[in-house]
Amino acid sequence: MQDLLKYSTFALLSVVLASPLNGVQQRDTFVWGALGDSWASGVSYDGGVSFDGKNTDYDNNKNECLRWKNTYGPLMEANTTWTTKPQDFHLAACAGAFLDNIQQILGYRNPPQMDQVGNPMMLTYQAGANNCGFGTAVAKCLYPLPGLLGYDKPYPDPDGDCAKQVHDTNTYINDMRTDPSYGFHGLYQDEIATVRNVLGHTAVKDNPDFRLYVLGYAHFFNLGSNYCDNLSFAALNANYQPPNVTNQLRTDFNDAITRVNNILRKVVHDVGDPRAKFIDISPAFNGHRFCEDNHNAKDQWFNNDVWLWNLNWPSQDPPTDPLSLAGALIVNGTMPAPVSISSLNGTVGDEMAGARDMAWVMRPFHPKIGGTLAIAEYIMAAAMADKIPGVVGSDSAASPRESTALPATITASPTSSTPHRPYRTHSLLYLSDQTFSH
Ligand SMILES: *[C@@H]1O[C@H](CO)[C@@H](O)[C@H](O)[C@H]1NC(C)=O
Ligand SMILES: *[C@@H]1O[C@H](CO)[C@@H](O)[C@H](O)[C@H]1NC(C)=O
Ligand SMILES: *[C@@H]1O[C@H](CO)[C@@H](O)[C@H](O)[C@H]1NC(C)=O
Ligand SMILES: *[C@@H]1O[C@H](CO)[C@@H](O)[C@H](O)[C@H]1NC(C)=O
Ligand SMILES: *[C@@H]1O[C@H](CO)[C@@H](O)[C@H](O)[C@H]1NC(C)=O
Repeated sequence: MQDLLKYSTFALLSVVLASPLNGVQQRDTFVWGALGDSWASGVSYDGGVSFDGKNTDYDNNKNECLRWKNTYGPLMEANTTWTTKPQDFHLAACAGAFLDNIQQILGYRNPPQMDQVGNPMMLTYQAGANNCGFGTAVAKCLYPLPGLLGYDKPYPDPDGDCAKQVHDTNTYINDMRTDPSYGFHGLYQDEIATVRNVLGHTAVKDNPDFRLYVLGYAHFFNLGSNYCDNLSFAALNANYQPPNVTNQLRTDFNDAITRVNNILRKVVHDVGDPRAKFIDISPAFNGHRFCEDNHNAKDQWFNNDVWLWNLNWPSQDPPTDPLSLAGALIVNGTMPAPVSISSLNGTVGDEMAGARDMAWVMRPFHPKIGGTLAIAEYIMAAAMADKIPGVVGSDSAASPRESTALPATITASPTSSTPHRPYRTHSLLYLSDQTFSH
């Protein structure tokens, strides 16, 4: 009897000690992390690719992820007002990451992101834009260089590189098939598989108080005809007419973001786990996008009230003066010696490429600090509303499963604000045929 009692006590104790939840709640730090791509990591031009020595780097460019000290994770880490315990923050997000990287190593550099976040009480998740090819679409539609990216016909000419890329991006976003085989599905299946893997990961699966905040992306543009119709974001050059940021291009880019956000919202609904929530960050950027009516052409580069980057030079963080290096590129289509436009080799506006002699010059279409601060506010508000243990406002041990904050609402069907245009079919097969015919 005594032995049995001993045994029972021991067994009970073991169960208590083995409970990950118990370990989580007794921690004296608030463990959390940020997963995702360059919208989550930020894009530091400093770590390992320093141009002017300005310190914007978060972690010495660990795993070549270009993490930025002013992206929303580090801003929240520096803010001591929203947690009741010291933070133990893990910035796992990596510039250039595809959805795979959340579970798998990225190109031998960034280990699986879920292996870098400890046993978190909260994770943010902002990922999928690289799978959609947004970087390529920006490079081909907004920043093409003559003869290098093969810029030919302006959008929406179906024979132009821009329209072809927009078509490929839309095809992937709109593909709702759920066949997990490679090539037989689109964004929806890739996102839901990734979110399921995160929620089922050993680090969080038995923790009912854990919260996963799936963030959308911000719309880039204000819409409606205005000065942007006659404005180009590309480097100017006397020898070619770069594409303008027309209302149609703006509308169709925004529409793609709307559809991506609707899919993320639907994924969170469809996983059916109350620990996951969708946060639409786009409203935070109202009044601060490109082409706002109360801004002018110059503001698109040099006004910090525009919360998205547009070909800025590192010494201009914040950007200030058009009569500068970036000004030379934008206004004159030239670069100071020894850099020539052709040496950029098509990398202007390309998210993942530096440029010869220039290192990281440009961070187009990523949030500036105004945007990352606004995103941080949304996340902190959600964490407090959900009363995550360790966050200000939480009861000591409550498991607020019935929280009504930020419900995983779902839009009936991902609708498009513009009709789908009859783009010419542009498949990978078509590209291969061309390659092999040379
Ligand atoms: C910290 O977060 C709180 C709550 O969101 C916010 O009111 C405050 O402005 C932030 N402080 C800083 C320095 O960002
Ligand atoms: C764009 O330029 C054209 C030709 O110069 C002009 O007719 C048009 O009004 C301009 N559009 C806007 C919105 O400024
Ligand atoms: C872009 O706007 C400029 C005016 O700044 C105009 O001259 C040019 O024709 C426009 N380009 C296209 C392709 O419409
Ligand atoms: C553009 O080129 C002209 C002529 O070389 C020069 O005077 C001017 O300063 C340049 N503008 C910028 C913004 O660099
Ligand atoms: C541009 O890139 C191609 C292919 O990567 C390379 O062969 C070529 O040397 C590069 N040109 C310049 C000017 O850097």
